[in-house]
Amino acid sequence: MKHFTTIQSLVQHLSGLHKKGLSIGFVPTMGALHNGHLSLIRIAQQQCDIVVCSIFVNPTQFNDPRDLEKYPRPIAEDIKKLEQVKADILFEPRVKEMYADNEHWHLPIGELEHLLEGASRPGHYQGVTQVVNKLFAIVKPDVAFFGQKDYQQFLVISRMVTLLNLPVKLIMCPIARETDGLAMSSRNVHLSATERQNALILSKTLNRVKHNFNSDDIWRLKLEAERAIAAQPGVELSYFEIADAETLHAATANTPHIVALVAAKVGNTRLIDNVILVD
Ligand code: PAJ
Repeated sequence: MKHFTTIQSLVQHLSGLHKKGLSIGFVPTMGALHNGHLSLIRIAQQQCDIVVCSIFVNPTQFNDPRDLEKYPRPIAEDIKKLEQVKADILFEPRVKEMYADNEHWHLPIGELEHLLEGASRPGHYQGVTQVVNKLFAIVKPDVAFFGQKDYQQFLVISRMVTLLNLPVKLIMCPIARETDGLAMSSRNVHLSATERQNALILSKTLNRVKHNFNSDDIWRLKLEAERAIAAQPGVELSYFEIADAETLHAATANTPHIVALVAAKVGNTRLIDNVILVD
């Protein structure tokens, strides 16, 4: 695997590959890699000649400085995992390589950046679009792969691609889960054994809603889900929404595509999960 930390060296290497007509697949990450990330890389390998993975803990998308500080950064293990799955290229820039001092700009993505996760984490999606926009400009991927795990992030990035006419195809990849149903996340390492058990209420509730889903019953299903999560000790619900899969507005009986999304704090760790109810 080739490992680059500067934009110039990466761009130089990639331009040779672009000239050869090889297709470039891109998997941006913040590291602390788990099987969810690796599943994206495997899907990218099936569809593209070359797979680039980036690891960059992007400071502009953290609205809580403590969260940024405690974000896990096991870079040596990450490199081993990427070598094991045979990723072709790792891009691992420093902050000053990605951002100029006092860089302030943001893309007006619209209400998607202010709903649900956007409401709980003001400025988060501005940081995400900033960094993904920069990464796309550097890597110039043909296809970029993102997880359904961050469903709203996928919608926000799709909106950015449409608004800016970026020449990249986006693929949403399924959520990788632990055997007990917990969605894999770099933040799961912060959970104690008890918290890890308590956190299962999220995927269990989403499954129950999926199992019982009936578009005439959305209001009741949402209420029951909120109650079930609120009743779980050690879990503080941020939101549970049954939403239009494109706009993330609350779904109604006539909404064609529907997703259920949840966010909660388990101890001090904020977790998110979702399930598609009507595709
Ligand atoms: P990060 O949280 O590291 O996630 C990187 C990619 O892995 C995202 O597309 C995310 O949706 C996906 N992913 C995470 N957990 C997953 C799971 N259990 N199953 C499937 N895919 C999963 O998302 C980010 O980083 C950042 O916001 C980023 C896009 C890199 C911009 O900084």
